[in-house]
Amino acid sequence: MSDDYKTNARTLMQGYCRVCPICNGRACIGEVPGMGGLGTAASFHNNISALQAVTLNMTALHSVTAPNTATTFLGTKLTFPVLAAPIGGAQFNMSKGFSEEDYIEAVLAGFEAEGSLGCTGDGVPPFIIDAAVASLAKHKGIPFIKPWEGKELYEKIDRVLETNPPAIGMDVDAAGLVTLRKMGRPVTPMDPGTLKDVIGYAHERKTPFIVKGIMTPLDAEKAIQSGADAIVVSNHGGRILDHCPGTAQVLPAIAKIVRHRIPIAVDGGVRTGTDVLKMLALGADVVLIGRPVSVASVGGGLQAVQSYCQTIKAQLTQAMLLTGVATIADITEDILYAKA
Ligand SMILES: Cc1cc2nc3c(=O)[nH]c(=O)nc-3n(C[C@H](O)[C@H](O)[C@H](O)COP(=O)(O)O)c2cc1C
Repeated sequence: MSDDYKTNARTLMQGYCRVCPICNGRACIGEVPGMGGLGTAASFHNNISALQAVTLNMTALHSVTAPNTATTFLGTKLTFPVLAAPIGGAQFNMSKGFSEEDYIEAVLAGFEAEGSLGCTGDGVPPFIIDAAVASLAKHKGIPFIKPWEGKELYEKIDRVLETNPPAIGMDVDAAGLVTLRKMGRPVTPMDPGTLKDVIGYAHERKTPFIVKGIMTPLDAEKAIQSGADAIVVSNHGGRILDHCPGTAQVLPAIAKIVRHRIPIAVDGGVRTGTDVLKMLALGADVVLIGRPVSVASVGGGLQAVQSYCQTIKAQLTQAMLLTGVATIADITEDILYAKA
Protein backbone atom coordinates (compact mmCIF):
# COMPACT_ATOMS: atom_id res chain seq x y z
CA MET A 1 0.00 0.00 0.00
CA SER A 2 1.34 3.43 -0.91
CA ASP A 3 0.68 6.65 0.92
CA ASP A 4 -2.75 6.97 -0.79
CA TYR A 5 -4.42 6.76 2.59
CA LYS A 6 -2.94 10.16 3.41
CA THR A 7 -4.81 11.76 0.50
CA ASN A 8 -8.00 10.20 1.75
CA ALA A 9 -7.26 11.29 5.33
CA ARG A 10 -6.61 14.86 4.15
CA THR A 11 -10.18 14.98 2.86
CA LEU A 12 -11.80 13.16 5.75
CA MET A 13 -9.88 15.07 8.44
CA GLN A 14 -10.52 18.52 6.98
CA GLY A 15 -10.85 21.07 9.79
CA TYR A 16 -9.03 18.77 12.21
CA CYS A 17 -5.73 17.73 10.62
CA ARG A 18 -3.93 18.83 7.45
CA VAL A 19 -1.97 15.56 7.20
CA CYS A 20 1.29 17.45 6.70
CA PRO A 21 4.28 15.79 5.03
CA ILE A 22 5.93 15.82 8.47
CA CYS A 23 3.58 15.73 11.46
CA ASN A 24 5.31 18.34 13.63
CA GLY A 25 2.57 20.46 15.17
CA ARG A 26 3.34 23.58 13.10
CA ALA A 27 0.06 23.81 11.17
CA CYS A 28 -2.21 22.89 14.09
CA ILE A 29 -0.93 25.16 16.87
CA GLY A 30 -3.42 25.35 19.73
CA GLU A 31 -5.91 22.98 18.10
CA VAL A 32 -7.13 20.99 21.09
CA PRO A 33 -9.75 19.54 20.53
CA GLY A 34 -8.31 18.58 17.19
CA MET A 35 -4.93 16.97 16.54
CA GLY A 36 -2.67 19.84 17.61
CA GLY A 37 -0.68 20.88 20.64
CA LEU A 38 -2.01 23.02 23.47
CA GLY A 39 -1.39 26.79 23.59
CA THR A 40 1.69 27.74 21.58
CA ALA A 41 2.24 24.00 20.97
CA ALA A 42 5.77 24.39 22.39
CA SER A 43 5.58 20.95 24.03
CA PHE A 44 4.59 19.29 20.74
CA HIS A 45 7.35 21.19 18.91
CA ASN A 46 9.87 20.29 21.62
CA ASN A 47 9.04 16.60 21.19
CA ILE A 48 9.99 16.91 17.52
CA SER A 49 13.09 19.08 17.95
CA ALA A 50 14.43 16.98 20.85
CA LEU A 51 14.39 13.91 18.62
CA GLN A 52 15.91 15.85 15.75
CA ALA A 53 18.80 16.92 17.98
CA VAL A 54 19.77 13.29 18.60
CA THR A 55 22.17 12.02 15.95
CA LEU A 56 23.50 8.55 15.23
CA ASN A 57 26.92 6.97 14.77
CA MET A 58 26.76 5.32 11.37
CA THR A 59 28.85 2.20 10.93
CA ALA A 60 29.07 -0.18 8.01
CA LEU A 61 32.12 -2.13 9.13
CA HIS A 62 30.60 -4.95 11.19
CA SER A 63 29.01 -8.37 10.82
CA VAL A 64 25.34 -7.55 11.51
CA THR A 65 23.33 -8.44 8.40
CA ALA A 66 19.78 -9.15 9.58
CA PRO A 67 18.78 -7.15 12.68
CA ASN A 68 15.99 -8.65 14.76
CA THR A 69 13.38 -6.13 15.95
CA ALA A 70 11.54 -8.54 18.28
CA THR A 71 11.19 -7.78 21.97
CA THR A 72 8.95 -8.45 24.98
CA PHE A 73 6.86 -5.92 26.92
CA LEU A 74 5.19 -6.92 30.19
CA GLY A 75 5.16 -10.55 29.15
CA THR A 76 3.82 -10.00 25.62
CA LYS A 77 6.10 -10.85 22.71
CA LEU A 78 6.24 -8.12 20.07
CA THR A 79 7.70 -8.38 16.57
CA PHE A 80 8.83 -4.76 16.88
CA PRO A 81 9.07 -2.40 19.86
CA VAL A 82 6.26 -0.05 18.84
CA LEU A 83 2.70 0.18 20.17
CA ALA A 84 -0.14 2.42 19.05
CA ALA A 85 -0.57 5.22 21.62
CA PRO A 86 -3.97 5.45 23.30
CA ILE A 87 -6.05 7.97 21.39
CA GLY A 88 -9.74 8.63 21.82
CA GLY A 89 -12.37 11.01 20.53
CA ALA A 90 -12.24 10.33 16.78
CA GLN A 91 -15.42 12.33 16.20
CA PHE A 92 -14.26 15.54 17.87
CA ASN A 93 -10.49 15.28 17.33
CA MET A 94 -10.20 13.81 13.84
CA SER A 95 -13.23 13.74 11.66
CA LYS A 96 -16.87 14.55 12.26
CA GLY A 97 -18.90 11.46 11.66
CA PHE A 98 -15.96 9.08 11.81
CA SER A 99 -17.02 6.32 14.14
CA GLU A 100 -15.04 5.62 17.28
CA GLU A 101 -15.64 1.90 16.71
CA ASP A 102 -14.14 1.90 13.20
CA TYR A 103 -11.23 4.01 14.40
CA ILE A 104 -10.14 1.84 17.32
CA GLU A 105 -10.94 -1.43 15.56
CA ALA A 106 -8.48 -0.63 12.74
CA VAL A 107 -5.79 0.39 15.24
CA LEU A 108 -6.09 -2.69 17.47
CA ALA A 109 -6.55 -5.16 14.62
CA GLY A 110 -3.72 -3.60 12.61
CA PHE A 111 -1.14 -3.66 15.40
CA GLU A 112 -2.21 -7.15 16.43
CA ALA A 113 -1.84 -8.41 12.86
CA GLU A 114 1.68 -6.92 12.74
CA GLY A 115 2.66 -8.64 15.98
CA SER A 116 2.32 -5.80 18.43
CA LEU A 117 -0.34 -4.12 20.57
CA GLY A 118 -2.58 -1.12 20.22
CA CYS A 119 -3.66 0.92 23.22
CA THR A 120 -7.10 2.44 23.72
CA GLY A 121 -8.02 5.85 25.13
CA ASP A 122 -10.77 7.11 27.40
CA GLY A 123 -12.73 10.30 28.02
CA VAL A 124 -16.16 11.74 27.51
CA PRO A 125 -18.59 10.95 25.95
CA PRO A 126 -18.75 7.33 27.14
CA PHE A 127 -18.75 6.01 23.57
CA ILE A 128 -14.93 6.22 23.71
CA ILE A 129 -14.64 3.54 26.39
CA ASP A 130 -17.58 1.60 24.90
CA ALA A 131 -15.78 1.35 21.57
CA ALA A 132 -12.50 0.47 23.31
CA VAL A 133 -14.09 -2.36 25.30
CA ALA A 134 -15.85 -3.75 22.22
CA SER A 135 -12.61 -3.84 20.27
CA LEU A 136 -10.51 -5.13 23.18
CA ALA A 137 -12.91 -8.07 23.43
CA LYS A 138 -11.78 -9.05 19.92
CA HIS A 139 -8.13 -8.00 19.91
CA LYS A 140 -5.30 -8.04 22.41
CA GLY A 141 -4.54 -4.46 23.43
CA ILE A 142 -3.89 -2.22 26.43
CA PRO A 143 -6.66 0.05 27.73
CA PHE A 144 -5.73 3.39 29.30
CA ILE A 145 -8.23 4.92 31.70
CA LYS A 146 -8.46 8.50 32.92
CA PRO A 147 -7.88 9.17 36.63
CA TRP A 148 -11.60 9.34 37.49
CA GLU A 149 -12.59 9.52 41.10
CA GLY A 150 -13.93 6.80 43.40
CA LYS A 151 -16.60 4.42 42.20
CA GLU A 152 -16.49 5.52 38.57
CA LEU A 153 -12.80 4.69 38.33
CA TYR A 154 -13.19 1.19 39.72
CA GLU A 155 -16.24 0.55 37.53
CA LYS A 156 -14.21 1.46 34.47
CA ILE A 157 -11.29 -0.69 35.59
CA ASP A 158 -13.67 -3.63 36.08
CA ARG A 159 -15.10 -3.10 32.60
CA VAL A 160 -11.74 -3.17 30.84
CA LEU A 161 -10.48 -6.07 32.96
CA GLU A 162 -13.32 -8.18 31.61
CA THR A 163 -11.52 -8.11 28.25
CA ASN A 164 -8.53 -9.80 29.94
CA PRO A 165 -5.89 -7.32 28.75
CA PRO A 166 -2.15 -8.00 29.17
CA ALA A 167 -1.96 -4.75 31.22
CA ILE A 168 -4.01 -1.66 31.95
CA GLY A 169 -2.79 1.92 32.15
CA MET A 170 -3.75 5.35 33.38
CA ASP A 171 -2.85 8.72 31.83
CA VAL A 172 -2.32 10.54 35.12
CA ASP A 173 -1.49 13.73 33.21
CA ALA A 174 -5.13 14.03 32.07
CA ALA A 175 -5.62 16.66 34.77
CA GLY A 176 -4.49 19.13 32.13
CA LEU A 177 -6.97 18.10 29.45
CA VAL A 178 -9.07 20.98 28.16
CA THR A 179 -11.27 18.51 26.29
CA LEU A 180 -12.48 17.01 29.58
CA ARG A 181 -12.91 20.46 31.13
CA LYS A 182 -14.92 21.68 28.13
CA MET A 183 -17.25 18.71 28.54
CA GLY A 184 -17.73 19.44 32.24
CA ARG A 185 -15.78 16.39 33.42
CA PRO A 186 -12.32 17.56 34.53
CA VAL A 187 -10.08 15.19 36.47
CA THR A 188 -7.44 16.11 39.05
CA PRO A 189 -3.85 15.06 39.67
CA MET A 190 -3.56 11.82 41.58
CA ASP A 191 -1.83 11.61 44.94
CA PRO A 192 0.60 8.68 45.17
CA GLY A 193 -1.38 7.05 48.01
CA THR A 194 -4.51 6.84 45.86
CA LEU A 195 -2.44 5.62 42.93
CA LYS A 196 -1.02 2.85 45.12
CA ASP A 197 -4.57 1.71 46.00
CA VAL A 198 -5.60 1.71 42.33
CA ILE A 199 -2.51 -0.26 41.30
CA GLY A 200 -3.10 -2.68 44.19
CA TYR A 201 -6.64 -3.26 42.86
CA ALA A 202 -5.22 -4.20 39.43
CA HIS A 203 -2.58 -6.42 40.99
CA GLU A 204 -5.19 -8.30 43.04
CA ARG A 205 -6.72 -9.08 39.66
CA LYS A 206 -3.32 -10.24 38.34
CA THR A 207 -3.00 -7.39 35.86
CA PRO A 208 0.10 -5.21 35.42
CA PHE A 209 -0.43 -1.45 35.66
CA ILE A 210 1.20 1.25 33.51
CA VAL A 211 1.43 4.90 34.59
CA LYS A 212 1.42 7.29 31.61
CA GLY A 213 2.43 10.93 31.78
CA ILE A 214 5.82 10.84 33.51
CA MET A 215 8.16 13.73 32.70
CA THR A 216 10.56 13.86 35.68
CA PRO A 217 12.82 11.36 37.51
CA LEU A 218 10.93 12.21 40.74
CA ASP A 219 7.56 11.23 39.26
CA ALA A 220 9.13 8.05 37.84
CA GLU A 221 10.30 7.12 41.35
CA LYS A 222 6.87 7.95 42.80
CA ALA A 223 5.22 5.71 40.18
CA ILE A 224 7.59 2.86 41.04
CA GLN A 225 6.98 3.32 44.77
CA SER A 226 3.23 3.22 44.07
CA GLY A 227 3.71 -0.19 42.44
CA ALA A 228 3.70 0.67 38.71
CA ASP A 229 4.82 -2.17 36.45
CA ALA A 230 5.82 0.22 33.65
CA ILE A 231 5.75 3.94 32.93
CA VAL A 232 5.16 5.95 29.80
CA VAL A 233 7.39 8.99 29.52
CA SER A 234 4.95 11.35 27.85
CA ASN A 235 3.64 14.90 27.76
CA HIS A 236 0.46 13.64 26.05
CA GLY A 237 1.76 14.76 22.66
CA GLY A 238 1.97 18.35 23.94
CA ARG A 239 -1.75 18.55 24.74
CA ILE A 240 -1.59 19.01 28.52
CA LEU A 241 0.88 21.72 29.51
CA ASP A 242 2.53 24.25 27.21
CA HIS A 243 6.34 24.60 27.39
CA CYS A 244 7.31 21.13 28.50
CA PRO A 245 10.63 19.77 27.28
CA GLY A 246 10.61 17.13 24.58
CA THR A 247 10.30 13.58 25.87
CA ALA A 248 13.63 12.62 24.25
CA GLN A 249 15.24 15.30 26.43
CA VAL A 250 13.93 13.99 29.76
CA LEU A 251 14.16 10.27 28.94
CA PRO A 252 17.87 9.66 29.79
CA ALA A 253 17.59 11.08 33.32
CA ILE A 254 14.39 9.08 33.91
CA ALA A 255 16.03 5.88 32.60
CA LYS A 256 18.96 6.51 34.93
CA ILE A 257 16.75 6.63 38.02
CA VAL A 258 14.55 3.70 36.89
CA ARG A 259 17.66 1.48 36.47
CA HIS A 260 15.73 -1.25 34.61
CA ARG A 261 13.51 -1.92 37.65
CA ILE A 262 10.47 -1.62 35.37
CA PRO A 263 10.17 -1.16 31.59
CA ILE A 264 9.96 2.34 30.16
CA ALA A 265 7.72 3.28 27.27
CA VAL A 266 7.97 6.71 25.68
CA ASP A 267 5.96 8.75 23.18
CA GLY A 268 5.92 12.17 21.60
CA GLY A 269 6.96 13.08 18.09
CA VAL A 270 8.11 9.62 17.03
CA ARG A 271 7.61 9.55 13.27
CA THR A 272 10.08 7.06 11.79
CA GLY A 273 11.88 3.83 12.60
CA THR A 274 15.01 5.94 13.12
CA ASP A 275 13.15 7.91 15.80
CA VAL A 276 12.24 4.59 17.44
CA LEU A 277 15.91 3.58 17.47
CA LYS A 278 16.87 6.93 19.03
CA MET A 279 14.31 6.54 21.84
CA LEU A 280 15.55 3.03 22.61
CA ALA A 281 19.16 4.29 22.68
CA LEU A 282 18.10 7.06 25.08
CA GLY A 283 16.72 4.48 27.51
CA ALA A 284 13.24 3.35 26.43
CA ASP A 285 12.19 -0.30 26.13
CA VAL A 286 9.26 0.37 23.80
CA VAL A 287 7.86 3.35 21.95
CA LEU A 288 4.29 4.56 21.38
CA ILE A 289 3.24 6.40 18.24
CA GLY A 290 0.14 8.60 18.24
CA ARG A 291 -1.01 10.95 15.48
CA PRO A 292 0.45 9.14 12.44
CA VAL A 293 -1.42 6.00 13.48
CA SER A 294 -4.64 8.05 13.69
CA VAL A 295 -4.08 9.36 10.16
CA ALA A 296 -3.57 5.79 8.92
CA SER A 297 -6.69 4.53 10.68
CA VAL A 298 -8.94 7.34 9.43
CA GLY A 299 -7.48 7.43 5.91
CA GLY A 300 -7.15 3.73 5.14
CA GLY A 301 -8.43 1.60 8.02
CA LEU A 302 -6.87 -1.74 8.85
CA GLN A 303 -4.77 -1.98 5.68
CA ALA A 304 -3.20 1.43 6.19
CA VAL A 305 -2.45 0.77 9.86
CA GLN A 306 -0.73 -2.49 8.90
CA SER A 307 1.15 -0.78 6.11
CA TYR A 308 2.27 1.97 8.51
CA CYS A 309 3.55 -0.65 10.96
CA GLN A 310 5.47 -2.40 8.17
CA THR A 311 7.09 0.88 7.14
CA ILE A 312 8.22 1.66 10.71
CA LYS A 313 9.51 -1.90 11.12
CA ALA A 314 11.49 -1.70 7.86
CA GLN A 315 12.94 1.71 8.77
CA LEU A 316 13.94 0.45 12.22
CA THR A 317 15.60 -2.62 10.72
CA GLN A 318 17.56 -0.45 8.28
CA ALA A 319 18.60 1.97 11.04
CA MET A 320 19.75 -0.95 13.23
CA LEU A 321 21.76 -2.30 10.30
CA LEU A 322 23.57 1.01 9.77
CA THR A 323 24.28 1.45 13.48
CA GLY A 324 25.50 -2.15 13.80
CA VAL A 325 23.00 -3.52 16.31
CA ALA A 326 21.70 -7.07 15.89
CA THR A 327 18.93 -7.08 18.49
CA ILE A 328 16.80 -4.63 20.47
CA ALA A 329 18.76 -5.59 23.62
CA ASP A 330 21.97 -4.51 21.86
CA ILE A 331 20.75 -0.92 21.44
CA THR A 332 22.64 1.35 23.85
CA GLU A 333 23.66 4.98 24.00
CA ASP A 334 26.88 3.95 22.24
CA ILE A 335 25.06 4.31 18.91
CA LEU A 336 24.39 8.00 19.64
CA TYR A 337 26.71 10.71 18.37
CA ALA A 338 25.08 13.55 20.27
CA LYS A 339 22.27 13.40 22.76
CA ALA A 340 19.53 15.98 23.09
C1 LIG B 1 -6.41 13.38 19.42
C2 LIG B 1 -5.66 12.79 20.55
C3 LIG B 1 -6.35 12.09 21.54
C4 LIG B 1 -5.66 11.51 22.60
N1 LIG B 1 -6.34 10.77 23.54
C5 LIG B 1 -5.65 10.15 24.55
C6 LIG B 1 -6.33 9.32 25.50
O1 LIG B 1 -7.54 9.14 25.46
N2 LIG B 1 -5.58 8.75 26.46
C7 LIG B 1 -4.22 8.92 26.55
O2 LIG B 1 -3.57 8.35 27.44
N3 LIG B 1 -3.56 9.70 25.66
C8 LIG B 1 -4.24 10.30 24.66
N4 LIG B 1 -3.55 11.05 23.74
C9 LIG B 1 -2.07 11.16 23.83
C10 LIG B 1 -1.39 10.01 23.10
O3 LIG B 1 -1.58 8.80 23.75
C11 LIG B 1 0.14 10.21 22.99
O4 LIG B 1 0.66 10.48 24.27
C12 LIG B 1 0.58 11.30 22.02
O5 LIG B 1 -0.31 11.40 20.93
C13 LIG B 1 1.98 10.97 21.51
O6 LIG B 1 2.47 11.97 20.68
P1 LIG B 1 2.46 11.85 19.06
O7 LIG B 1 1.03 12.00 18.65
O8 LIG B 1 3.28 13.03 18.67
O9 LIG B 1 3.05 10.55 18.65
C14 LIG B 1 -4.24 11.66 22.68
C15 LIG B 1 -3.56 12.35 21.68
C16 LIG B 1 -4.25 12.90 20.61
C17 LIG B 1 -3.47 13.60 19.52
